[in-house]
Amino acid sequence: MDDLMGYVIGETSNTELNFLAKHMPEIGSYVSINYCDLEILGMVESVNQGCKIFEDVYNVKDFEKLKDFENNDSYYTIGKIKILGDVKNMQIPRIPPKPGTEVYDASEKILGEIFSKGTIEIGNLISADSKVKLDVNKLCSRHLAILAITGMGKSNTVSVLLEELNNIHATVLVFDMHREYVEIEAKNSTIRRNIIRPKINVYNMSYDALMSLAGVDPQATVQRAMGRRAMKKIKESKKEVDFNTVDEYINSIINELNYYMGMDEFKSKVDSILTLIMRFEDLMTFKDKITAINYNPIQDIKENYVNIVDISELDESSTDLIISYFTGEILKDRKKVLWDTKVAKPIFIIYEEAHLIVPQNRPTKSKIPISKIAREGRKFGVGICLVSQRPKTLDQESLSQCNNFIISKLIEPSDQKHVQHASENLSEDLLNQLPGLNVGEAVIIGPCLKIPAMVKIKRFEGEYGGEDVKFDELWTTEKEKNIPEFIESNELFNDDL
Ligand SMILES: Nc1ncnc2c1ncn2[C@@H]1O[C@H](COP(=O)(O)OP(=O)(O)O)[C@@H](O)[C@H]1O
Ligand SMILES: [Mg+2]
Repeated sequence: MDDLMGYVIGETSNTELNFLAKHMPEIGSYVSINYCDLEILGMVESVNQGCKIFEDVYNVKDFEKLKDFENNDSYYTIGKIKILGDVKNMQIPRIPPKPGTEVYDASEKILGEIFSKGTIEIGNLISADSKVKLDVNKLCSRHLAILAITGMGKSNTVSVLLEELNNIHATVLVFDMHREYVEIEAKNSTIRRNIIRPKINVYNMSYDALMSLAGVDPQATVQRAMGRRAMKKIKESKKEVDFNTVDEYINSIINELNYYMGMDEFKSKVDSILTLIMRFEDLMTFKDKITAINYNPIQDIKENYVNIVDISELDESSTDLIISYFTGEILKDRKKVLWDTKVAKPIFIIYEEAHLIVPQNRPTKSKIPISKIAREGRKFGVGICLVSQRPKTLDQESLSQCNNFIISKLIEPSDQKHVQHASENLSEDLLNQLPGLNVGEAVIIGPCLKIPAMVKIKRFEGEYGGEDVKFDELWTTEKEKNIPEFIESNELFNDDL
């Protein structure tokens, strides 16, 4: 028989109950309760300890006297259990257990069966020796949010997921903001990496998006109107294939604008047109790395690879444009494939720093296709993963479409509330555990697991780029080099000049 942990006490319900514990139970550990021919599984969500003889004593002298009489027997421990369902089919029982019912430590065998069903091994239960594997279909199709304050293990979790997904030949796309994954290497497997240089098709872009890329102020209505007119004219007369290079296309817009400069009709707008021409000239010089023509990002994405779009060198507005462009084109492509072939071509897209890309109170270009995928992507085999250290600034609507959550330490109550708002499965008690989690520990909830779990995420075995810099080691190695003891400060300045 399993270890007896204690007895149900007080008023019970079929969703939660309290028990008087024989030993101190661990928060996040599982219990089993047998009644009505069912074996019910529950999770210890909080624990309280008390001592009867100290109750209502508010005088220090009395307290100190009583303390001498106190022995371990006067303490009691009460655990609060959230009922998860019966072991067989995880359904919540219709009736609550009677007070006095025995509460047992759930056996490792049961936990092993529950948590070993999935394909993606993410780590171990904190409270028991059981591996935790996630159901990849539910993880990807029902979207995922990885949330925690900085340094708590988000990138490590992403790296573990990348290796595991790569092992099952998944097609994954990561927007890599900090060059964390471009050189990812695993010790025990070969991660098939495909590095994509971010490019955007200038001919396919909307008029407004192209002008934003060129740096035209959104409020500059005259410039915007003239630009639209010129681009529309060019597009009506020439197809994309008529241009060999980006510069050919942009120059044709500039020529059209130059033509307007000479027209009487636009005499009063000459200054605006001139500024616009300068913006387009700058576009050819400064944005030449990310512009392309006769290009579709789909051609760069390799199936069954970890595709990494290196956006580390882009500014915020180009990042937004690239992400919205890639995401929109992927959704279009996946819809088309499904309609044409009747078979989906699944892809899982990971967005780091998601609060910058899909923020709560600010419109961005990426918000439109990402929230579209969040809502309807699963029909077409497109899953998303939002990674963020500032959940409260993450778009509530997109977040609430994520059904799976891997949440590590979150301290700010406003972050916690925002997440709780998005996920009905995150109970108040589980939420209260978030500030106490250590590096690499996380609460995992959602359809990717049969029941919620507190997990020690495994350490990614290999190298990724975002690991904490070891200041002391690096400085010590520097020290070993022959560093002169004294430098005339002027010398430093002279070098800079
Ligand atoms: N599951 C884990 N097990 C052990 N150490 C971890 C784990 N996750 C993260 N770490 C450590 O914490 C550091 C920060 O992790 P990281 O994933 O880069 O955090 P974040 O992306 O949330 O800022 C890593 O350098 C690593 O040393
Ligand atoms: Mg990180």
